[in-house]
Amino acid sequence: MTTPRRAPGGFPVVGIVGGGQLARMCAGPAAELGLTLSVLAEGPDASAALVVPSSPVGEHTDAEAVLAFAAACDVVTFDHEHVPADVLAELVASGVPVHPTPEALRFAQDKLAMRERLTALGVPCPRWVRADTAADVEAFAAQVGWPLVAKTPRGGYDGKGVAVVASAAELTGWLARAQEAGTGLLLEEKVPFRRELAVLLARSPSGQAAAWPVVETVQTDGICTEVLAPAPDLDPDLSARAVEAGLRVAGELGVTGVLAVELFEVVGADGEASFVVNELAMRPHNSGHWTMDGAVTGQFEQHLRAVLDLPLGDPTPRAPWTVMANVLGGEYPDLYPTYRHVMARDPGAKVHLYGKDVRPGRKIGHVNVSGDDLADLRERAGHAADYIQGVVTE
Ligand SMILES: Nc1ncnc2c1ncn2[C@@H]1O[C@H](COP(=O)(O)OP(=O)(O)O)[C@@H](O)[C@H]1O
Ligand SMILES: [Mg+2]
Repeated sequence: MTTPRRAPGGFPVVGIVGGGQLARMCAGPAAELGLTLSVLAEGPDASAALVVPSSPVGEHTDAEAVLAFAAACDVVTFDHEHVPADVLAELVASGVPVHPTPEALRFAQDKLAMRERLTALGVPCPRWVRADTAADVEAFAAQVGWPLVAKTPRGGYDGKGVAVVASAAELTGWLARAQEAGTGLLLEEKVPFRRELAVLLARSPSGQAAAWPVVETVQTDGICTEVLAPAPDLDPDLSARAVEAGLRVAGELGVTGVLAVELFEVVGADGEASFVVNELAMRPHNSGHWTMDGAVTGQFEQHLRAVLDLPLGDPTPRAPWTVMANVLGGEYPDLYPTYRHVMARDPGAKVHLYGKDVRPGRKIGHVNVSGDDLADLRERAGHAADYIQGVVTE
């Protein structure tokens, strides 16, 4: 079926462009809330298409496909930030409400635009510059020192599009491509962070906002592998300032739906901890997967409520700690036997799998475990994720 069937009782249809796991994980909450989902999917076997009856196949870059899809929806939102500006403009012109709006989404699509805007707002950022030539790279390195971090402004994810470089020569290919595309490169100082944190919140079109507690995110090779909620031993004052910055960014940029603000926690010469912003995402985010089981309102439900301008749900945690461990694709394509074992070994572990083919390093699921003992939860979540992906067999 490609046309969404509306539930009786006046309930709306929420359209999601993109059929990845984030769209898929909206399906449970949508069903519970009595909403109908429709997904513009990359193919019939896209993660969300497997569980959402109305999943027409089409490209997010194809304006005609996106408009035809949106015509059957009451609001349109996104599974990723890759819909081009001209397609977004046509979508808005067609009259369907779009959340987040293209004006806001721009700052999650383009890391240079994000840096410019946050700097103008006085939000703390790493030192950064736009580079178009090797001379620009040398000049910036003279200020901040090697190595530095180079980023393609658009299209990156899971560390693709991010490089730590020790010389301008390493960027020759990237600079040539950036020059061709006219986009430039984003250069940043390599921040000597203590750890990575994330603020996650939702904001509705009427301006209501609700934030979950600040979490610690652990990245391995640029991919998020573990989230600790809330961030252990976080200075309450730093936490409050980080949430305040997130709420301010959401308000100033007019963000609607879920906003993730990735942060680096840094420690000054005086021993005081502070933060700088790494990047923004305007959709449910990996740093919020813990909320599905660990908070009164999970991020997927909250995103649906926000884009529909419904009153937001309570973001309070249900347990002192929740640990999320990502399941990355490993050596074994057959997950069913391993997940069976995990369920038997740890009935308290909540296993979420995305219906995706196993490819090495690909995010294919996650495990949430909640309770009182953080060390025990980390062990259990990590073991379950490792076992499912075939890293451990005991
Ligand atoms: N300026 C920086 N200094 C140090 N590490 C960085 C910096 N920028 C990014 N990183 C590391 O690279 C990871 C991915 O970068 P990010 O900009 O978040 O790209 P992506 O869009 O792929 O998530 C970050 O989570 C962090 O671990
Ligand atoms: Mg990131």
